[in-house]
Amino acid sequence: MAKKVGVAILGLGVVGGGTYQTLVEHHDFYLKTQKADITVEAVLDKAVARLDALGVPEELRAKSIEEVLANPAVDIVVETIGGIGVAKAFVTAALCSGKSVVTSNKELICKFSHELEDIAKRNGCGLYYEASCVGGVPIIRTLIDGVQANKISKMMGIVNGTTNYILTKMSTEGADYAETLKEAQRLGYAEFDPTNDVEGFDSTYKLSILSSMAFHTKVPYTKIFREGISGIATEDIAYGKELGYTLKLLAIGKNTEKGIEVRVHPTFIPNAHPLASVNDAYNAVYLCGDAVDDIMLYGRGAGALPTASAVVSDVIYAATHSEIKYSTFKNTANAERNVKFISNFESAYYIRLSVEDKAGVLAKITGVFAKNGISIVEIEQKGKKTDEAGVPLIVVTHQTRENSVKNAVAKIGETGIAKVEAVIRVE
Ligand code: HSE
Repeated sequence: MAKKVGVAILGLGVVGGGTYQTLVEHHDFYLKTQKADITVEAVLDKAVARLDALGVPEELRAKSIEEVLANPAVDIVVETIGGIGVAKAFVTAALCSGKSVVTSNKELICKFSHELEDIAKRNGCGLYYEASCVGGVPIIRTLIDGVQANKISKMMGIVNGTTNYILTKMSTEGADYAETLKEAQRLGYAEFDPTNDVEGFDSTYKLSILSSMAFHTKVPYTKIFREGISGIATEDIAYGKELGYTLKLLAIGKNTEKGIEVRVHPTFIPNAHPLASVNDAYNAVYLCGDAVDDIMLYGRGAGALPTASAVVSDVIYAATHSEIKYSTFKNTANAERNVKFISNFESAYYIRLSVEDKAGVLAKITGVFAKNGISIVEIEQKGKKTDEAGVPLIVVTHQTRENSVKNAVAKIGETGIAKVEAVIRVE
């Protein structure tokens, strides 16, 4: 006989609505394929219009979280509210009442997984969060199960669709950042206040969760170096193209003998790299494991049904597994004491300077790089002096330390040898 499993959904916005739709429409499919009779037993959302639009029957519309949690037919609570206010209170209450929780909330998991997982363990229930990172791409399950045989040394992800959409458009259409952002907002890719996405905060939450799981230790988001895309100029994307690079906002995690390196920033990658062809609002995560070598997962990182795909996969997992597998990193808010984080990381760099086109300038600039121990791979002046305005000088370095580049560009700026227009890391 099929196992009967009741679900409550808290928050029927884009993801919650997609989850409701998927569970209702695929009920018979899951009954047949999973031997689980999964039904929506309650929903909680004050916006009646949303519930009407989804055709939620009156008898499923709960008035309060207390009513949802007191319902004996509810086994699993899906939280798709977002944020860390009411969502945290409701998730905590659900776990305390012994109900397993499935959440799509990256900020909640990034900041409070330690606390929530403790409550889940104490109450013998599960906490699942596949949808918290990279929407429909099954990266969490891959890290927990699929690649568990491996020591993961590196991950690089395009984990934010909004910024990937903007950078793709800037690259293919040559449009500038401000007008592309406006277009992304008009199409609903970017939010009215785009800060969370364009300044890289969303990516740091996801990288914190993913690198904690990949490296089996807590990687607090506060340890992640972050730089967004709002300062990117279209001309740098074009100059990068001439050098054979594509610009992406990457979430990078490396686990080395010297420590853990975690950073989110615009990055030039060679056109031949698999991540270079991940365009528009698509996401991808590229992993290197010691046994499997390189693998890449690709798909939609947002949207109602892609994200519902991840939420419902967790619901099915929770419904069909009695063994609960918690995160393998130490359950703590902070980094473990013995874990070293590398802030003065190594990278190659693309640097655009604006220089006066006259004798001796190049020698002074290369002198500053040499003094800071920076070796140059390529240097090219774009055009000749036409008036008083400076001409662009593009410098690409070998692998070097972040602090060496910081010192060199500060020196160049301070002494007025040239104006520093852009510094972009190259992987
Ligand atoms: N705002 C995110 C993005 C989607 O643009 O990818 C949800 O994580």
